[in-house]
Amino acid sequence: MNMIQNIKRGEATRSAYGAATSTYKILKNGTVVRIRQIQAKDKHGIQLGMSQMSPQSRRNRFFSAIKNLPDQTLRDLVEVDHVNHDAWVAVTGPLHFPRPVGVARYVRDTHDPHIAEIAIAVVDTFQSQGMGSIFADVLLEAARNRGISEFMAVVLANNEKVLAMARKYGATRQFLSPGEYEIRAQVDAMTQPALD
Ligand SMILES: CC(C)(COP(=O)(O)OP(=O)(O)OC[C@H]1O[C@@H](n2cnc3c(N)ncnc32)[C@H](O)[C@@H]1OP(=O)(O)O)[C@@H](O)C(=O)NCCC(=O)NCCS
Repeated sequence: MNMIQNIKRGEATRSAYGAATSTYKILKNGTVVRIRQIQAKDKHGIQLGMSQMSPQSRRNRFFSAIKNLPDQTLRDLVEVDHVNHDAWVAVTGPLHFPRPVGVARYVRDTHDPHIAEIAIAVVDTFQSQGMGSIFADVLLEAARNRGISEFMAVVLANNEKVLAMARKYGATRQFLSPGEYEIRAQVDAMTQPALD
């Protein structure tokens, strides 16, 4: 079980980065998405997003096809300190009725704060439209501003999309256990995709 799958509840510190501002991006299919830092109120949105992911996508993200996250896990995913653990959500649709598109997060290594484990999840109907790459940009910018020099992730060996994405960013992969790879990438060496 890795850090991201089993987030321990951290001390809630007041964040230097917590002021939520939104940015807007356009996906390849023309959908306008709004991206902002996660907030405690996003519990429902996360659960809704989970219900819109296929069993395979949920397995790829959580290593289990779990559909309804336990309440404590949901809280751990949204009540972040924005320093050691931060996350961004992407939504689309009207402000009063946003539809979840995806979420990206990093959690710093408790022993080495320059290393962070990352995870990205995009609901199935929005996959392969550039959302994952936009999230990678968001994580890269945060890393550069916050002294994170290395990203790592544990991924299923048959998760072709994320392995292709890792290759695109120049990450290295290592056998971790049967069916799992550990992916690592130096933030400075990661190439920025030309998405806007
Ligand atoms: C992996 C995931 C985050 C990628 O997000 P996405 O929005 O589909 O990604 P993008 O459209 O930005 O594509 C990024 C790269 O992924 C790869 N990719 C995307 N769709 C692909 C497909 N259908 N087949 C193969 N590779 C694909 C490509 O390398 C692509 O780069 P390119 O657009 O320059 O070719 C998304 O598929 C997902 O949420 N999967 C389920 C959860 C998961 O596996 N999370 C990762 C483990 S933490």
